[in-house]
Amino acid sequence: MGAPRKGWLKTLWSAAKTVAFLGPGIILLALQYARRRDQLEAMEGRASRAEAWQGVGRPRGLEAIPGGVRVYFQEAKPGQGASPYPGHGQGPYLGHGRSPYLEAVFLGEDLLRLTWFPREAVPPYALADSKPPLWEPERLETPEGYLLKTPRLALRLEEEGLSIWDGEGRLLRREAYPERSGRAWRHRVRLASGERVLGLGERAFPLDRRGGVFRFWNRDPGGSYGLGEDPLYLSVPLWLSLLHEGGYLAFYENPADGFADLRGEEALVGFWGGPFRYYLIPGPLEKALARYLGLTGLPPLPPRWALGFHYARWGLRRREEVEEVVEGFLRRGLPLRAVHLDIDYMRGYRVFTVDEGRFPDLGGMVRAFREKGVRTVLILDPGIKAEKGFPPYEEGLREGVFCRLPSGEVFLGPVWPGLAAFPDFTDPRARDWWRDRLRGFLELGVSGFWLDMNEPALFAAWGEPTFPKGVRHSLEGQGGDHLLAHNLYGLLMARASWEGFRTWAPLSRPFLLTRAGYAGVQRFAWAWTADVESTWEGLRTTLWALLGLSLSGVYFVGSDIGGFSGDPSPELYLRWFQMAAFTPFFRLHSARWTKRREPWRLGEEVLAGVRWAMGLREGLLPYLYTLAYEASHQGLPLLRPLFLAGGPYRDPPHGASLGEAFLLGKALLVAPVLEEGARAKEVPLPPGRWYPWQGDGALEGPGWVRLPAPLDRIPLLVRGGSLLPLLQEEGLTLHLYPGEEGAQGLLYWDEGDGAGAYRLDRFRAQRVEGGFRLLWESEGDYPWPWDGIGLKLFGGRLSRVWVQGKAYPAGEGGVRLPPFAEAFLEVAG
Ligand code: NOJ
Repeated sequence: MGAPRKGWLKTLWSAAKTVAFLGPGIILLALQYARRRDQLEAMEGRASRAEAWQGVGRPRGLEAIPGGVRVYFQEAKPGQGASPYPGHGQGPYLGHGRSPYLEAVFLGEDLLRLTWFPREAVPPYALADSKPPLWEPERLETPEGYLLKTPRLALRLEEEGLSIWDGEGRLLRREAYPERSGRAWRHRVRLASGERVLGLGERAFPLDRRGGVFRFWNRDPGGSYGLGEDPLYLSVPLWLSLLHEGGYLAFYENPADGFADLRGEEALVGFWGGPFRYYLIPGPLEKALARYLGLTGLPPLPPRWALGFHYARWGLRRREEVEEVVEGFLRRGLPLRAVHLDIDYMRGYRVFTVDEGRFPDLGGMVRAFREKGVRTVLILDPGIKAEKGFPPYEEGLREGVFCRLPSGEVFLGPVWPGLAAFPDFTDPRARDWWRDRLRGFLELGVSGFWLDMNEPALFAAWGEPTFPKGVRHSLEGQGGDHLLAHNLYGLLMARASWEGFRTWAPLSRPFLLTRAGYAGVQRFAWAWTADVESTWEGLRTTLWALLGLSLSGVYFVGSDIGGFSGDPSPELYLRWFQMAAFTPFFRLHSARWTKRREPWRLGEEVLAGVRWAMGLREGLLPYLYTLAYEASHQGLPLLRPLFLAGGPYRDPPHGASLGEAFLLGKALLVAPVLEEGARAKEVPLPPGRWYPWQGDGALEGPGWVRLPAPLDRIPLLVRGGSLLPLLQEEGLTLHLYPGEEGAQGLLYWDEGDGAGAYRLDRFRAQRVEGGFRLLWESEGDYPWPWDGIGLKLFGGRLSRVWVQGKAYPAGEGGVRLPPFAEAFLEVAG
């Protein structure tokens, strides 16, 4: 996919891109490495893996087991074909020739797990809870096959395949029994007409994945990518199916190299190794996602500062340059909350070093920034320069924490500092080692780490820019190869870094940003969509990538504003800024070869637009923080495609709207401007009442509406029925947007970091004669930190508010009130 390049042209193109990206310094290493990797893989015989696919045959016996059933199959020719991966001997691989069997167990009335044996086991790194309780299904013999049933799901094992229904009797999935070839498994899943498939992790592809072929293999596209590039950095084999009615989630718990081919009426999903296991959860999808997070882990509540604006720039080579930028923001009253240092702070790109000449007294700088309300985040790459005398390398060698080749030799690959060794994060000893390396930075007062290049990425002049597949990994001592462990690398680097925070800065909430990951990465880190090109198409692709991540359980996501690799026009820059203000991670970042792009460098018009976006973002902080709380406690996504707003997703406007607008939480509908020159936008409205931001009237959905989009803002709507908590100069203000019944709102607040007291405030407005009755209930011990509370009504004119027999007259900007349990809002007219 991507640009239409074929064969040698493609090779030439990627070689040219690599040269431009790396510079002449490392190019020789990249050439040597690509050759070496090819040789190593040839020695392992990986090139000749073509082996015929072989079906498992029909069921030939059943055995009831707790929570489900084991089904044995006839498999046509047992024992055919030897493993094409001789290096794999030490693993837990159960080998070929054993008759396959299927194990189906219910881990709840709404959670079915299917596993095909024999299989290669991998430790359950993706799961937060590896032993969910079993659920006893009903068991029935029917003429069509054996049936297992819970109130929410039914599974029928038929002659040629299996079928799954939801509790309402709607068919969710029909699939053929799988085929095997060596270590590989694949199966065919019938797709219903009009069925949409979403999820699959981070993809530069429209949200509905039908029509595409996707690989599950974390990959650095090398400095720039655009629409259609596949795969990207963070794959999650999570499939969300939207049917005419209902839908389901299927999570393939297999980190190995895999694929999903969704081009036809039948999908083909497979993995080149690893366990063939998946979990199925019935819709509605919002609930299914929350359930999936119950399985793979909730995202922790982030420190509040992380929801503010972050600045990064590759190529700031001196402390003064960074200070100048920080001052630039603060002087202009632009609320900067964090500054990220890219690899420039290191000495010769050696991880865990600081170039004291260019960044003297880093700790002093970090403290000075912090006093001004700006946190410091440092980039960390996994590659440790293989240099005699370099302490982390020597220690790592001594402690045996690096990945090795099948020959036992430490594997070295080229990255920024030259040849480097790589901690094997699947080894608990390596994770502890990495954890301890973070101590120094955390004690300096660094507030977060930005984990880059952890696909893992290497510089290779051609072919796969990563380890040879035969590189060995510990996998908690059981052993396995890179084909199995590759996609786990970023996840486990994040886990080890998380442990670093817990150990060395136990009073702070960790902030980690990762480029690569796998299912479960949300337990440790946020993710960003990295090196996207600076084009309008790149902006649209970014929206899809972000929503795709969100629909794959990775909720705290963002992009490089303006695109990473090029120079956006002022208009594109501003439109990107405006969209990013409504994504969980809000950061400006760019490549060192692009023009500097602090907001004041792009003209007054851009600066004014940026002010609007940044100001709004700051104002929304209480709402965003509450969303973060809901994500971390209930598993609800922050970014949501419109079909999660309710109503039949297939009817207009939902179908066509998958990539035009999105929801931030339940209450806000954001319609980013994705086209050059556009000063108005057709916005799809889900069912219900919607109030244009700060406007007077309300609109009724479903339908489409054309809204103005002058350069300094984008269309933004609030759902009727919301009470939005916003921060204004005077303190906290509730914005009341009435729906049919009234409105509701929630506010979570605490110290902003650590694990101290919190408070939860629930606001409920009920329509009553002459206005609204507003109820305020609180829980938790954190004191209300503002002076009273402001109130502003939309879609009506508030004349005064009664609290405990006293009237408070309302003006244009609303009214400020003392804390209350019950208030009466008098509405004029
Ligand atoms: C690649 C990352 O994607 C990018 O954000 C970073 O600036 C460069 N590596 C340099 O560290």
